[in-house]
Amino acid sequence: TVLDTDPERTAHRQVRVPPGVTVFDAASWNGIAIDSTCGGHGTCHKCKVRVEGSTPITRHDVKTFTREQLDAGWRLACLVNATRDLTVDVPPLTTRPKAATVGVGRQVILRPAIQKRYVELDEPTLADQRTDLARLLEAIDDLEPTADLHVLRRLPSVLRQADFKVTAVVVDEALVDVEPGDTTKQQYAIAFDLGTTTVVATLLDVGTGTPVAVASMLNRQQPFGGDVITRISATMMDPEALGRLQAAACDTLATLAAQVCDEGGVDPAHVYEVAIAGNATMTALALGIDPEPLGVAPFIMSTAQPPDLLAADLGLALHPRARVTLFPALGAYVGGDIVAGMLATGMDRDKRTRLFIDVGTNCEIVVSDGDRILSTAAPAGPAFEGGAIRCGMRAADGAIEVVKLGEDVELGVIGDVEPKGLCGSGLVDAVAELVKVGLLDASGRYVADEVAKEVAPSLADRLTMLSNSKGAQERVFVLHRPTPDAEPGDCVVLSQRDVRELQFAKAAISTGWTLLLEELGLEHRDVQQVLLAGSFGSYLSAASAVRIGLVPKLPVLRIVAAGNVAGEGAKMALLSVRERAGAQALLEEVTYVELSDRTDFNDRFVDQLGF
Ligand code: FES
Repeated sequence: TVLDTDPERTAHRQVRVPPGVTVFDAASWNGIAIDSTCGGHGTCHKCKVRVEGSTPITRHDVKTFTREQLDAGWRLACLVNATRDLTVDVPPLTTRPKAATVGVGRQVILRPAIQKRYVELDEPTLADQRTDLARLLEAIDDLEPTADLHVLRRLPSVLRQADFKVTAVVVDEALVDVEPGDTTKQQYAIAFDLGTTTVVATLLDVGTGTPVAVASMLNRQQPFGGDVITRISATMMDPEALGRLQAAACDTLATLAAQVCDEGGVDPAHVYEVAIAGNATMTALALGIDPEPLGVAPFIMSTAQPPDLLAADLGLALHPRARVTLFPALGAYVGGDIVAGMLATGMDRDKRTRLFIDVGTNCEIVVSDGDRILSTAAPAGPAFEGGAIRCGMRAADGAIEVVKLGEDVELGVIGDVEPKGLCGSGLVDAVAELVKVGLLDASGRYVADEVAKEVAPSLADRLTMLSNSKGAQERVFVLHRPTPDAEPGDCVVLSQRDVRELQFAKAAISTGWTLLLEELGLEHRDVQQVLLAGSFGSYLSAASAVRIGLVPKLPVLRIVAAGNVAGEGAKMALLSVRERAGAQALLEEVTYVELSDRTDFNDRFVDQLGF
């Protein structure tokens, strides 16, 4: 459904939303504020918009507008469902709503699930014998929360100790606590990006939308293996491993939660919500669900939609009723981290043709033509993380991350220290530059010495032979010599085999997006924006990615480093219940395409190997 807002004005915008959402939610999802005090519940009668064409009239519309206004198309935005393309005139706001910029330039209008209300209640008398709960609920009747035993146990004493001046804490329409005095300024939540390698926590003030503290650490599951497959294998070989992996995940989350609260000077009891974005395997392991079916064909998840649970269930020492929301997954290899990434990049809110690539050992690819959205996963292997590369290493101090070849070799090294090895972005750069100067041919082979002397005379002597781990000789290009007379074996080199590894990885990825584009009847040049996500993708040189064919051949300005979009999506879910619903809607909107059973996959893969 296309929602066309206020076409006469300069603020005219065309946006895409899932069919059936209300105009109010659709506008909010796209950062377009509509007046409201009830948050879209149909009770404040403030969300006035003018909708072109015939639109059903509700009894609330009749109470709000005159006959002339109704005839002119005025309606309450939260009661109009966008089931067809609509043109909507949104009047300017009298007061600006609170909003935060999150993800790739997404404007999120704040509507957190956490709502706090400070109330000063009348004390009971013989003439006013309402129950404690009724007294409180009447004072916050616009929220209409339900109360459970936990709250009822605290309510009588808290009300009386605090002279009936209390703050009600409501999360997702459930009254989770009653706190003495005014604590409305203390409303926090934690967004987790639960990565296979690194876990990042952001403590958010959901009242203002501001991050208060951020912390990250290596996932404590590392000793079980560096990627999802080795961790799944660990559970298949040792019946105790699942419990230990779950404990390691929970330990990582709990450590980070304590750290961000400490750094932010926030009482953990004031953290009422947690959102976790992780791939399907990380999510299953954190919940103690057997991941084995994820690792073997036909790659089945236990559920696409993990259940909500309490933070205490994961061992997080936050508010005892703090809830955990886990992002849903589209498939075993397009998990909640990618759904969160789609939310953060607005993949379903844009009419442009966009390609989203999260580059890693498993590479997730999403293509949207502004109408349909397809996703798939491509097994790129460990090359981008330095695995299977002779001098490969993770992006840490000493890793070459930038390579420029001219008269000489210019290197950018993380931490500005002596180069020790090559990380993924350095690998892509090195290969792209070697192709550019002609030392690698289009098939990915190092050229013969005579050719090298002709095309790049000042670099030709860096091409040499070196024996590999099996004792066989292979050609290498010396990127860094620690001393002028160092032996090649003591240098940082790029071997012929390394180039092959990169070719396999990039061919897996480019086959993935080529086939998705074909499914949509599109060509490379139709792509208007490429979003490179993930810790590796964000550091990649756009020019090098284009040169080696990792992304379509487009002007580099169309290639955007999207950053840690999984964490940004988790933040959005905490800042707005509408964005959270948007993540759910993606499950319906996105079609997962399985590439491994396509008969043409291998032929296409081979086509994509060259430069
Ligand atoms: Fe309050 Fe529509 S937002 S009535």
